[in-house]
Amino acid sequence: MDYKEAFEKASKFGQEHIFQFWDELSKEERESLLKQVNEIDFDEIESLKKLTSKKEKANPDPKSISAPNSIKKEKIMKSEKSTYEQGVTTLKEGKVACLMVAGGQGSRLGFEGPKGCFPISPVENKTLFQLFAEQILANQKKYDVNLQWYMMTSVANNAQTKEFFEENNYFGLDKKQIHFFVQKMLPAINKEGKFFLKTKSEIFTNPNGTGGVYSALKENGILDHAKKNNIEFFSFVNVDNPLVEIFDPAHIGLVKERNSDYSIKVVKKTNPEEKVGLICNVNGITQVLEYSNISEELTHEKNEENDLLLNLANLNILIIKRDFIEQILKDNLLEYVVAFKKIPFISESGELFQPDSPNGYKFETFVFDVMPLTKNISIIEDLREDIFAPVKNAEGVDSPLTARLLMNRKAKKWMLKAGFDKEIVDHIDFAEISPLFALTEEDFIEKVENKIEFYENEMIAEENFYFQ
Ligand code: UD1
Repeated sequence: MDYKEAFEKASKFGQEHIFQFWDELSKEERESLLKQVNEIDFDEIESLKKLTSKKEKANPDPKSISAPNSIKKEKIMKSEKSTYEQGVTTLKEGKVACLMVAGGQGSRLGFEGPKGCFPISPVENKTLFQLFAEQILANQKKYDVNLQWYMMTSVANNAQTKEFFEENNYFGLDKKQIHFFVQKMLPAINKEGKFFLKTKSEIFTNPNGTGGVYSALKENGILDHAKKNNIEFFSFVNVDNPLVEIFDPAHIGLVKERNSDYSIKVVKKTNPEEKVGLICNVNGITQVLEYSNISEELTHEKNEENDLLLNLANLNILIIKRDFIEQILKDNLLEYVVAFKKIPFISESGELFQPDSPNGYKFETFVFDVMPLTKNISIIEDLREDIFAPVKNAEGVDSPLTARLLMNRKAKKWMLKAGFDKEIVDHIDFAEISPLFALTEEDFIEKVENKIEFYENEMIAEENFYFQ
């Protein structure tokens, strides 16, 4: 696309101001602006503009809200072993793949680069990506299967993410089983419907949200790849949770047994104010309400048993049936939501302007927005301390420090369960158990059996089981 074509395209939609600094741009900058204009679907943005005039969704009436039915993982493990076994069989058959979303901008963490490259493990300082790779390797060994890892990145971090894996030799996995695919970016608009300039040669765009994963799966040929590889389910996880169990046979077995098209793993909230999405039924329809869409009153509302009415937190740990994704894409059922946000931009005078109040609309979709479209949803409740250590903020809650402490706590819990002396465990500063050593508490207990005395006397760790 040359300048003339690009200018015409932009003018047709009232966006010609994006060329305001054209005369000052270098050859490379001009090329990159033209490329961006070429890639933007202006018609789509026109149709999304309608959303900005819609009133914000009102908070649902507390009377319409009820807690959905869920099953505790503990129950499956204790008394529904056949469900667990079905999960094992499904895994062994190679019918489950990992679908990780790693396209976020990680601005709250303040880390330059893809979040997955963040070093997090308490002793060895392994990165999030390495820990997930080790989990996949360990699952492959345990279930004697080749597992696919689909990873959504964004334009901003795709190249760096791929380089990181290349530099680290794919952490021992086969390059061919890791599939990076890029989610779409969408321009934000101001109150007059105009694009913002992020620099003199770049239109401000943002990744289209976790819900962007559905169309990105199709557009990048991942759905076809999965189908060809006999994959029935995607195990969906965020990149920012080092404790997530990517392949949980109990969860997979539940989905298989109930023939669910969508399943969500939840944990109890730590306190009413916790910043997580909450799962609930609104007029009988199961969905996730983001904490920001829940009124103060509803956040604290109690049920008849005096528990919090909305007590089940969404961790973005899902199992989604491939068929279901194909269906919703075919029927074009995904809808964007609009968020009014502060967007820094280059003003007419060429200066960077930092707004102190919201000034523009960003368009996004969320991975759980499709929940009302499911036909048979299942919900499994797990123990928070075992599966959730989010790395979101640089400091304070949900920070690297809290995540390391949680990982340490889990490792020590396994050591105590296996029979390590409590006094010795208490004296260790940090413990770390790699998935390559043991994937579950049961595996760990079995592995260290008869060796506890050795560990305690020598106080030396072995490969993949570290303490200091
Ligand atoms: C998300 C959930 C929230 C849940 C919490 C648990 C959403 C909208 N909310 O919140 O209900 O309680 O996780 O930790 O999902 N990402 C992309 N592309 C994007 C945006 C995000 O790939 O366009 C990825 C991020 O890299 C990250 C994950 O999605 O892995 C979650 O992103 P983030 O926006 O940080 O979600 P939260 O607000 O923490």
